[in-house]
Amino acid sequence: MLNTRKSTIFAIIISLLLLVVAPVSAQDDDDDELIGGVLNIYSARHYGDMEGPFLAFEEATGIEVRISQGSPRDLLARLRADIERGNRSVADIFLAIDAGVLAIATEEGLLQPYTSDTLEANIAETQRDPDGHWYGLSQRVRTVVYNPENVTEEEIDTLNDYADLAAPVWEGRLCMRPASHIYTVSWTSGLIYNLGAEEAAEVISGIANNVTRYINSDTSQIRALVAGECDVALVNHYYMGRLANGDDDDQATFEAVQLKWMNQGEDNTGTFYNINGAGIVANAANVEQAQAFLEYFSTIEGQAPDETGISGVNYEFPTNPEAEINETIAAFGEVMLDTGYPLWEYGDLQAEAVELLEDNGFGFSEN
Ligand SMILES: [Fe+2]
Repeated sequence: MLNTRKSTIFAIIISLLLLVVAPVSAQDDDDDELIGGVLNIYSARHYGDMEGPFLAFEEATGIEVRISQGSPRDLLARLRADIERGNRSVADIFLAIDAGVLAIATEEGLLQPYTSDTLEANIAETQRDPDGHWYGLSQRVRTVVYNPENVTEEEIDTLNDYADLAAPVWEGRLCMRPASHIYTVSWTSGLIYNLGAEEAAEVISGIANNVTRYINSDTSQIRALVAGECDVALVNHYYMGRLANGDDDDQATFEAVQLKWMNQGEDNTGTFYNINGAGIVANAANVEQAQAFLEYFSTIEGQAPDETGISGVNYEFPTNPEAEINETIAAFGEVMLDTGYPLWEYGDLQAEAVELLEDNGFGFSEN
């Protein structure tokens, strides 16, 4: 009895001590701003690529991130199944690497809208769904890389637009990603949007005629340029950023090739690009944490130019105009992006793009 009373008193004293100590440590660590809890993410990006930004997010918010990875199509299917089952979804955030997939998810009611003053101030209007179903957090630009050993200056001067890839001068000299890959499909949808279906078909047919190899990896395409298997390839710019910052072999590969932004100039469309973007899942269980995710990654900290930023970690361009651009890709020169093709329309032409690629002899697998 006495023992119990003693321990009760002891417990009360400890509690009182904690009460005194806790607020002090809270102030020291800024704990009062931490949200805490967990956030489940369906991610089309590998966790390895995102480790730095997610760790920074966890530190800033106290929210524990849990990742489930998959291809965009797999993740869409999982979201549909989750939502059909009703109740709460397994995922809170859908992180995609293609605006078309985000637009399709929106149309299917898989994402819920969220807007805030922070998001609207941080993310340019062209880089987010008009109703707030998703936000672009970084940009990847699909453009030409060539081997200057095998391409003359006169030749490269004639290659300014995607349509120029169809010219006879490039016969047997192009590497391309197969039409089975979303990068090729989305890029083709951009051609259809800007040129119309008829002209886009002519361009694709001409390009298909010029391709010597289809390679389902942009890094391998760049290596094929150095090996002399092809002279010109179409790749996402960040693969050049990765090579430039890789090991000696990667850096030698980077040094051996040149990047050129396509469709530049005042009267031109700008280069085709896509986004790494995210939206809150329709029946997310952790809505507050999901909102905090979007808010955080819209800031200049979330989009830092180094390995802690969602853009910097992968040498992508930030969607927050105030965020600093990673120095490797800043050195590629200023680029005008094709913002005339609205991101929220990227989903509309995907099926037509696949059909057009198929009808015009574009390869669907490696060769
Ligand atoms: Fe990629």
